[in-house]
Amino acid sequence: MSADDVILEARGIERTYRRGEFAVPVLRDLDLEVKRGEWVACTGRSGSGKSTLLNVLGLLDSADAGTYLLAGHDVSVLDDTGRAKLRNRLLGFVFQLHNLLPRTSALENVATPLVYRGVGRAERLRRAEAALEAVGMADRADHDPGELSGGQMQRVAIARALIGDPEVLLVDEPTGNLDLTATREVLDILDRLHAEGRTILMITHEEDVAGHADRRLVLRDGRLHDHDSAEAHV
Ligand SMILES: Nc1ncnc2c1ncn2[C@@H]1O[C@H](COP(=O)(O)OP(=O)(O)O)[C@@H](O)[C@H]1O
Ligand SMILES: [Mg+2]
Repeated sequence: MSADDVILEARGIERTYRRGEFAVPVLRDLDLEVKRGEWVACTGRSGSGKSTLLNVLGLLDSADAGTYLLAGHDVSVLDDTGRAKLRNRLLGFVFQLHNLLPRTSALENVATPLVYRGVGRAERLRRAEAALEAVGMADRADHDPGELSGGQMQRVAIARALIGDPEVLLVDEPTGNLDLTATREVLDILDRLHAEGRTILMITHEEDVAGHADRRLVLRDGRLHDHDSAEAHV
């Protein structure tokens, strides 16, 4: 495999939360390599550190130790501005708690990330319309989140994540509170994004959802294990 094929490479990642004199080690000597275009699903018990991992990989939080190369960029040498730039350019987030702005139309919600990229308003709205179209939500562009179902909100959140044309999508429990139909709609969209060559790293606790990925990992004891390996099931 040539180095170009690897978009995300983490080695020896450590992350410990400190509360006064207490230390909670969450990620311990964690390694991960994701190829360009690959769809990786990560499962793990509640509290195993899945969101912590996604925050570190998404440059929303810093590892205490280890190296992390994102599209060949050594993240540890970047300051906050450099990390924000890299994040804006390469990453799209669909987080369960990454809520849509209330009392704000779907169109404005989707267009918002482009403000930070200096894209003019007319162009922002044009691209937001196209992104909503891509997730089958064009006819709800002027609806507030309060007027949308959970599945529709999640589709708007995906459109917002896609608006900057990110290479990597980081997805935390995309079908967490959704019924079967909405789950299928979200999975159809992720399937299509994967087919288009987008890299996806997805956290889920649902087996069927994880089954859509190319590769499955389990986070346990601060490290990632292959889903099929014996130690993953201990
Ligand atoms: N900001 C924080 N401060 C202290 N402890 C935290 C913080 N965030 C998470 N934790 C702890 O780290 C562990 C992993 O949390 P998290 O990454 O949210 O797990 P998961 O997403 O797998 O449920 C948990 O024990 C949690 O209580
Ligand atoms: Mg979590």
